[in-house]
Amino acid sequence: MNALSYSLRASVRRTPLTSARISKASFRSSFRKYSTEAPQKSSNTALYATVGLALVGGLGYYVYSSSDTAATTVKSGTQSAKSALKFTPTKVDYQKVYNKIAQKIDDAGDYDDGSFGPILLRLAWHSAGTYDKETKTGGSNYATMRFAPESLHDANNGLPIARAIMEDIKKEFEWISYGDLWTLAGVAAIQEMGGPKIPWRPGRIDGFAKDVTPDGRLPDASQGQDHLRAIFYRMGFNDQEIVALAGAHALGRCHPDRSGYEGPWTFSPTTLTNDYFKLLLDEKWVWKKWNGPKQYADKKTGTLMMLPADYALVQDKAFKKHVQAYAADEALFFKDFSAVIAKLFELGVPETQWVSSEPWTLLSTNDQHESK
Ligand code: HEM
Repeated sequence: MNALSYSLRASVRRTPLTSARISKASFRSSFRKYSTEAPQKSSNTALYATVGLALVGGLGYYVYSSSDTAATTVKSGTQSAKSALKFTPTKVDYQKVYNKIAQKIDDAGDYDDGSFGPILLRLAWHSAGTYDKETKTGGSNYATMRFAPESLHDANNGLPIARAIMEDIKKEFEWISYGDLWTLAGVAAIQEMGGPKIPWRPGRIDGFAKDVTPDGRLPDASQGQDHLRAIFYRMGFNDQEIVALAGAHALGRCHPDRSGYEGPWTFSPTTLTNDYFKLLLDEKWVWKKWNGPKQYADKKTGTLMMLPADYALVQDKAFKKHVQAYAADEALFFKDFSAVIAKLFELGVPETQWVSSEPWTLLSTNDQHESK
């Protein structure tokens, strides 16, 4: 199945509305309508109290808001809803979600290189990479890419495919928030594609359309080191972390109908390795001769690519030092990549929201087979 037919199938799929669904849906849409309007502080308390009662009453829908106080109020409503349903998810439940995602990643048929892993990792990264440390807005907390205009930002082209895959999982595990689901998919993608264990914990809550982030917060592939620093320093990362993060481009490929660019960075786009760094240093990179945007091609085979933003990592002395370190030592890359991905996926989530003080390690499919 190709990308287009996948997204078409997802967009035309309709779930029949049973009466139970209709009542849940109408409750949800009436709340959503209200909550996506400009915040009205004075009336919110009453609203959340009502919502909390409704939740205790057994509707069991998780409803969240964006302000910290409101989030706390609503969170206690959620806790009540969970106890009303006699269900509080544990690590075992999150492992079940992980396992389902892992199954989906492999169930990609002839899509791209036979795996949904890379596009799911891109979804998780784009949901978290909107964070601004000054205003404390954006990040993985609210999963605002579900809403326009963020869903339509150019940087997010192609991601409806990943969000549709996530919807399938969400149907089975309604209790999980979108932010938790998407970041867990990023963790699963890395672990299932041979990468290191990524510490992860749940606690993100769903935001609303009013929480969407402005366009321009994600990196522009046509630019160089100054731009990369401006974008990633804004999220709170340093030079070493920027280089470690970019190592994710060992995975996946560019698509002319999404970013305009074309091709994979490495010869093994569904296995995480430090090859991205090795290739950056060892290959001779020349401008690709084509009608598309400016990108590099490896001189030897002409089948691999580097974006101008990737190539900036060997043009800049401070960045290059880390490229060399990661090219020479895959274990070092894996250690730093794990730490920086865990940090990325937690951006924008207030400390009080975490359900566990320490992040967890979820088992990969391989771990589970080996322990049998
Ligand atoms: C350093 C700045 C970055 C730039 C300029 C950049 C740009 C891009 C572009 C243009 C694409 C191609 C999209 C498409 O056509 O489908 C892409 C794909 C991808 N990016 Fe990045 N990216 C950056 C950082 C990151 C980071 C930090 C991660 C993850 C930690 C990441 C993970 C990925 C993955 C996995 C893909 C492949 C998606 C697929 O195969 O569908 N990127 N990136």
